[in-house]
Amino acid sequence: MAFNNQHFTDMSDYINLVRERNREYEASCGRPPLAYVLTFGCQQNEADSERIAGMAQSMGYKLTGSAEESDLIVINTCAVRDHAEKKALSIIGQFKHVKNARPGVLIGVCGCMTAQQHRIDELKNSYPYVDFTLEPALLHRLPEAVFRALSGEKRTFWVGGEEKIIEDVPVRRESSYKAWVSIMYGCNNFCSYCIVPHVRGRERSRDSSQIYREVRALVESGYKDITLLGQNVNSYKSDCDFSALLKKLCSIDGDFKLHFMTSHPKDVPDSLISTIAENEKIARHFHLPLQSGSDRILAAMNRRYTTRHYMSILEKLRALLPDIVVTTDIIVGFPGETDEDFEGTLDIIRRARFDMIFSFIYSKRKSTPAERMENQIPPAVKSERYERLTALQNSISKEKNRQLLDKTVKVLVEGESKNNPDVYAGRTEGGKIVHFKAESILPGSYAYIKINRAEAFALYGELQNKILYNLGEN
Ligand code: SAH
Ligand code: SF4
Ligand code: F3S
Repeated sequence: MAFNNQHFTDMSDYINLVRERNREYEASCGRPPLAYVLTFGCQQNEADSERIAGMAQSMGYKLTGSAEESDLIVINTCAVRDHAEKKALSIIGQFKHVKNARPGVLIGVCGCMTAQQHRIDELKNSYPYVDFTLEPALLHRLPEAVFRALSGEKRTFWVGGEEKIIEDVPVRRESSYKAWVSIMYGCNNFCSYCIVPHVRGRERSRDSSQIYREVRALVESGYKDITLLGQNVNSYKSDCDFSALLKKLCSIDGDFKLHFMTSHPKDVPDSLISTIAENEKIARHFHLPLQSGSDRILAAMNRRYTTRHYMSILEKLRALLPDIVVTTDIIVGFPGETDEDFEGTLDIIRRARFDMIFSFIYSKRKSTPAERMENQIPPAVKSERYERLTALQNSISKEKNRQLLDKTVKVLVEGESKNNPDVYAGRTEGGKIVHFKAESILPGSYAYIKINRAEAFALYGELQNKILYNLGEN
């Protein structure tokens, strides 16, 4: 098909064009072409991968778990730390032999790594078997990229996201009971260590009516856990603010919980705290990244709050909801972090008593202000601080989990435990993993478990009874 003679602008036009070609392929090969999607990074990327899979399916691909046999390989990358990029590049490297064995296979790289010019140059020059890249803001142009590649056009490296919100991109959800719903994209905060604003563009929020429609449809089709996603969900600003959006979504009839992540401490007004407290459909879990326990470092990070402000949010939250699960992110070894600054972090960890923390060793990101800061911390010091921080938090997490001993908790069943198929795993409303034995219980059901063992990362208990919800078994 001569691409140049036609003028198509719409995602759905390209979907139809590729589908036509894939029908021809199926007629000649006796099977539909196969697509494989590999995901790195955060929940945003998982949500984006569900769109990649949705578009692939609409284009006539059948999804497969094996890159070896697939006709379209899409790698959705993350750039938040050096390790994430290295891992993605090493796996992309391994796909060279797939292309050698079957030159017709299309290989596309998308995600945050591909919004950086130096990585595009690297992919262009050192990975000649990569057919196209697509930065996150251009994800909806996947069908066009695939069509152009199938039409024999030369490799495309797309940047310059339009930064508008495209609704109605097909989505293929991984789970039938928990769903991601992006409510906003991008970030305006420019924390001095962070690549995200550079690769995901400026903050933009979806209309609340679109979000409402999506959540209502999910609830109607039996979804129990709905997570509202964004880099700073609490900066959501469209026709209403975040608290108003939560209230609107809580008015949807049905048995479901709303989760949200991530929130920024600079945007937690009292009204948000009271909205959470007043609406039982909002899960009792708040993920509120602190990053450091030193005000000097927080300022250098451009976080725009103090430890005192952070602790005042926690106090207000716990005054209304004493059992709310609170989790956070901490970076150790930010440039210039002294022993005293780090002691400040340990101190606030002791005082805040988080249920869990996600700790990260500072990783230099190209073109961020922190990259050029003096006093970069030697790797050995960073690792030692990381070990001390995680040891301290593990003991706190264990103590907090032990408070649940002999209590009965409600969990949403996820299925057989990954490490032990003899037991099931479920999650509490606060996201804690609970293992238990049961004869047979469907993922997506709620179960009541009496806790009899508590470790730092998991709880164990006995099934009390089970309630099954319309998953074909009521
Ligand atoms: N928007 C969210 C999450 C951003 S990325 C937020 O503001 O919290 C998730 C976490 O990765 C961050 O909270 C931070 O702790 C960590 N992170 C980001 N950039 C990093 C870097 N350069 N090195 C180490 N950790 C980093
Ligand atoms: Fe990165 Fe800060 Fe934006 Fe979070 S708020 S994505 S840490 S710049
Ligand atoms: Fe990574 Fe991009 Fe998410 S950099 S953490 S995939 S927003």
